[in-house]
Amino acid sequence: MDNRIETPRSPRCSNGENLLNLNLKDHYEVTKELGRGTYGKVLLAKCKETGSKVALKVLPKANVKLRDFHREFQFSYFLSPHTNIVDTYNVAFETRASYVFVQEYACVGDLFDAIPPQIGMSEKDVKCVTKQVASALDFMHSKKLVHRDIKPENILIFDTSFNKVKLMDFGMTRRDGTVIRKVNGSIPYTPPEICEAVRNESICVSTSGDVWAFGVLLFCMLTGNFPWENADISDMYYNEFFCWQKRKTTRIPSQWLKFTPRVMRLFRKILETKPEKRCEMKEIVKYLNDPWIKSQKNSQESDPEEEDFTADSDHMDQLANILQDHGIDTKMDARFRERRISEWLLTL
Ligand SMILES: Nc1ncnc2c1ncn2[C@@H]1O[C@H](COP(=O)(O)OP(=O)(O)OP(=O)(O)O)[C@@H](O)[C@H]1O
Ligand SMILES: [Mg+2]
Repeated sequence: MDNRIETPRSPRCSNGENLLNLNLKDHYEVTKELGRGTYGKVLLAKCKETGSKVALKVLPKANVKLRDFHREFQFSYFLSPHTNIVDTYNVAFETRASYVFVQEYACVGDLFDAIPPQIGMSEKDVKCVTKQVASALDFMHSKKLVHRDIKPENILIFDTSFNKVKLMDFGMTRRDGTVIRKVNGSIPYTPPEICEAVRNESICVSTSGDVWAFGVLLFCMLTGNFPWENADISDMYYNEFFCWQKRKTTRIPSQWLKFTPRVMRLFRKILETKPEKRCEMKEIVKYLNDPWIKSQKNSQESDPEEEDFTADSDHMDQLANILQDHGIDTKMDARFRERRISEWLLTL
């Protein structure tokens, strides 16, 4: 990476392998706790030498192995050059009880607090966040890295108009294809293929898991609710979505009715239950210029033209999937399909 942040912004530098042993208070004036996670905490501090405000990620040695600390620090540092990934400085050290690394401070906070519960954010703001987080994730995926913990708490906001948001927390990040054991339970962002794995079962890390979690995040941002608690058919809300997704019914579950057919088409691709068929992050940006939330008029009475158009192209997609399942390449059919739709539109 060429433009990696090399300038030390705090007093002590370390390459992360030979950690310096420091007394935190000698170098930093801790102002407040910014957050607390499963393994450690993040503190707002003023660097005594430079006077700059920084965020210190403090991971107690009792909870975190040195190897895991190194991994998180190195992934965070390596990914820093991307505009939408939090800057991690080349500063890592240990104190008597903890391992610490230093990051830039986001003054507005995290995305979780910015989503009004049961209401959601404006479509414009959601699109602004989507564009930036999709770019950060696409960058990670291009480096064959999987974030594995996409949720609003792990997205930092730097201005109230959402023009600068950054992905953070690379504690769970692993290389694509790594085989790990399932240890944690499931949260609403967990994809179905991981939900169905039992504790200690071997699972293969894949970028498709981030795409699913991003789909759930998109729903959360647009509605202020989770679509379900668990992506398992024993969850009523998930089951309703699953039946629509698998075309067992054409009835769209009630909590999805505010969305336009176009964004439902996107949700169908992101929240594809089979990970190998799920779209990539790149697909999402193709939908940024479309309306996502139905207008007041359309939410009462849906626009049949729009529905029919989507229904027709969805049927084509379904047909293409069936053909693909039988080993028939349908790439050639794409142009044909587009022509068919244009011809069909002329008949209206
Ligand atoms: N650089 C920062 N600027 C402002 N706030 C931050 C910063 N880093 C973290 N926070 C806050 O602290 C919280 C916890 O940080 P982080 O996700 O890095 O910890 P964690 O222990 O890995 O959490 P978890 O494992 O639960 O996801 C964040 O959700 C955010 O609210
Ligand atoms: Mg976190």
